[in-house]
Amino acid sequence: MDILRTLYYRLSPEHRFWIRKIYYFPQSIFSKSQELVPPKALIYTGRGDFLQQGRDWCLFFIENGLSADHRFLDIGSGIGRIALGLTTFLKGPYEGFEAIKTGADWCTQNITPKFPNFNFFFVNLHNDLYNSDGLDAASYTFPYETDSFDYACAISVFTHMTDDEVDNYLSESARVLTRNGLLTATFFISDQTQNIEKSNEGQTFVFPYEYTHYFLMDKKVKGANVCFKKDYLFDIIAKHGFTIEKYIPGSWRGIPSQNPLAFQDVLVLKKN
Ligand SMILES: C[S@@+](CC[C@H](N)C(=O)[O-])C[C@H]1O[C@@H](n2cnc3c(N)ncnc32)[C@H](O)[C@@H]1O
Repeated sequence: MDILRTLYYRLSPEHRFWIRKIYYFPQSIFSKSQELVPPKALIYTGRGDFLQQGRDWCLFFIENGLSADHRFLDIGSGIGRIALGLTTFLKGPYEGFEAIKTGADWCTQNITPKFPNFNFFFVNLHNDLYNSDGLDAASYTFPYETDSFDYACAISVFTHMTDDEVDNYLSESARVLTRNGLLTATFFISDQTQNIEKSNEGQTFVFPYEYTHYFLMDKKVKGANVCFKKDYLFDIIAKHGFTIEKYIPGSWRGIPSQNPLAFQDVLVLKKN
C-alpha cells in the first residue's frame, strides 16, 4: 500500500474531509460546475467522472432488471452519484440513506426540488472511514416497511463494512425488497484462503491483514477497504434468501474485467 494512502488513513474521518476540501478548493473556484454535480471539494465518495459514472450505473441497472416504475433503494447514497444517474430514467420512488450528513443534505437541497420522487435521509451510522461516531450498522434496522422496494443498490458501500455489518445489511435488504426484487452490490471478493498480499503477486489492490471472514487493507481503519472470503460471503447471501444472478469479477486484482464499471466485484442478487 502506498505511503500517502497509509498516512491518509491515519487521519480522523473529519480531518480527511477537511484535507479533501482544501485540496480541491482552487479547482472548485475555477472550474465551471455542471448542473446537479456537487463541487469537487464536496465529493468524498471517490474519483472519476461523477456524472458519467452515475449514468453508467443506471444503464447497468436497466440491463439487469430495473424498470422506470420500480421503487428504488440506494444504500449508502453518498452525495448523489447514483441518484443523479437515475434521475432521467426512474419514475418510481427513490429512497437513499447515507451516513454523512453533508452528502444527504446536498442531495435534498439540490436533487429533490427538481425530482420530487427522490428522497434522501441522513442516518448517523458509525464507519471508521467516514464517521467516527454513530449507530452500529450491525444492528441497524432500515427505516422502511417490509416488501417496499423492487430494486436496491449498494455501490462501493459493502467494501467499507465488516462481516456482522454486511450480514445485517443483506438481511435488511432481503426484508425490504419484494419477492424477485433485485440488489446490485459491489464487493471485494477473494477465493484465496491465505493472506492476499503474499498469494496474489502483481495485483493493484492488496489486503495484507487476515481475519476469520475477510481481509483488510489497513489494520487500524477497518472500513478503509474490506475484502470478503468468497465462501463466507456466498453463504450469507444464500442464508438471507438471495440467489446470485450475476457475478462480474472486478479489475482490482490487476486482471481486465468484462465490464468497465467493475473495478470492484459486482454482484446482482435476486430475492427468492
Ligand atoms: C465510496 S462511497 C459510495 C457512495 C455511493 N454509493 C456512490 O456510489 O456514489 C461509500 C458510502 O457509504 C456510506 N456508508 C458507510 N457506512 C455506511 C452504513 N453503515 N450505512 C449506509 N451508508 C454507509 C458512506 O458514508 C459513503 O457515502
